[in-house]
Amino acid sequence: MTPAEKIVSEDLHHIVNRGSDEFSRLSGRRVLIAGGAGFLGYYLAQAPLFWNKVTVGLPPISVTVLDSFIRGVPSWLTALEGDPNLHLLQHDIRNPLPVELGDVDFLLHAASIASPLYYRKYPIETMDANVNGLRGMLEYCLAQKRAGKSVAGVLFYSSSEIYGDPTPENIPTPETYRGHVSCTGPRACYDESKRYGETLCVNFARQHDLPIKVARPFNNYGPGLKITDGRVIPDFARSILDGNDIVMLSDGSARRTFCYVADAVVGYYKILMKGRPGEVYNVGVEGPEISVSDLAARAVTLGRELFGYTGKVSRRESSDKDYVVDNPFRRCPVITKARTELGYDPQTRIDEGLRRSLLWYSGNREASEA
Ligand SMILES: NC(=O)c1ccc[n+]([C@@H]2O[C@H](COP(=O)([O-])OP(=O)(O)OC[C@H]3O[C@@H](n4cnc5c(N)ncnc54)[C@H](O)[C@@H]3O)[C@@H](O)[C@H]2O)c1
Repeated sequence: MTPAEKIVSEDLHHIVNRGSDEFSRLSGRRVLIAGGAGFLGYYLAQAPLFWNKVTVGLPPISVTVLDSFIRGVPSWLTALEGDPNLHLLQHDIRNPLPVELGDVDFLLHAASIASPLYYRKYPIETMDANVNGLRGMLEYCLAQKRAGKSVAGVLFYSSSEIYGDPTPENIPTPETYRGHVSCTGPRACYDESKRYGETLCVNFARQHDLPIKVARPFNNYGPGLKITDGRVIPDFARSILDGNDIVMLSDGSARRTFCYVADAVVGYYKILMKGRPGEVYNVGVEGPEISVSDLAARAVTLGRELFGYTGKVSRRESSDKDYVVDNPFRRCPVITKARTELGYDPQTRIDEGLRRSLLWYSGNREASEA
């Protein structure tokens, strides 16, 4: 087993152990993961299939990955194609769900461009996926209910970005904070479509009594996040693995908490199975809240230890004038709601998560554009 394969195997064990109750309740049911070819889809799809393999005596979970596959089917999904419990469905979520979809028990909507680099390039496509795409999914749930085939759970992926740039007294940020968001700035296509998406979810849940829940992910990172994605950790990993200096395009002072994806995915399955309809849950870690400069320094230290990296951190002004416009200065969640209601309990410390990520990237350096 390569170091990268070992990381994935350990993560899958971690997810199915911590989510054992949730996966048992999914046994024999059909789950649709829209956007399942993306970063979060990597473990969202692999974990139930892995649970099928390590569980004896319970019916398997059936997983349908719906994605536009705009950049092709990723190699990890191709490798799983022989699995009888995995089905791939090429579809653009901006269009109504295809009739051949049939009956689904649980639906996850993670089909949206998520990288700032790319959603600023494709703002209208981003809005349409989060508004029209979500609406189509919710209408499907309503139609299923009316046909006597009620869905059992829906999870919409919103974002910590719905808080915009929180005022200092609202950091750490609880779900009750209403946000400080521009509706016309360069990031608004993402932030505002997620906000409207949440409003759609809450009102469909209330008006039609549907089991729709919302997750607000805070800076997830780790295996599955393409090295070309444009988010900060894969960018650092690419520099380290190529032996180049880490070039920071901002002053590095923005502060974040970083949540390792194996912890986050357990949280998402907990919200899907146990979250209250019409409710939103922050999914992230409470600390440490570190600057992007600090993160880069930690990545350099780990790069030295793991690969004998000799580079350093340097700074360059971005040629993109909107690079940091409306970029929140601090982002740090309160996760008490998910902890107390759902038993969400992220465990992976940042240095361990970074180490795992770098090892995974060392075996997964090739990627098409995100
Ligand atoms: N990763 C994070 O830290 C984070 C933070 C906040 C919110 N989110 C949200 O979680 C969800 C998943 O994020 P991710 O990091 O996995 O993103 P990603 O970009 O890695 O994956 C998104 C997937 O959705 C697919 N997709 C995009 N538009 C589509 C469309 N119109 N029809 C069908 N498929 C489409 C893409 O092909 C891709 O496979 C997104 O809704 C994102 O906004 C993620």
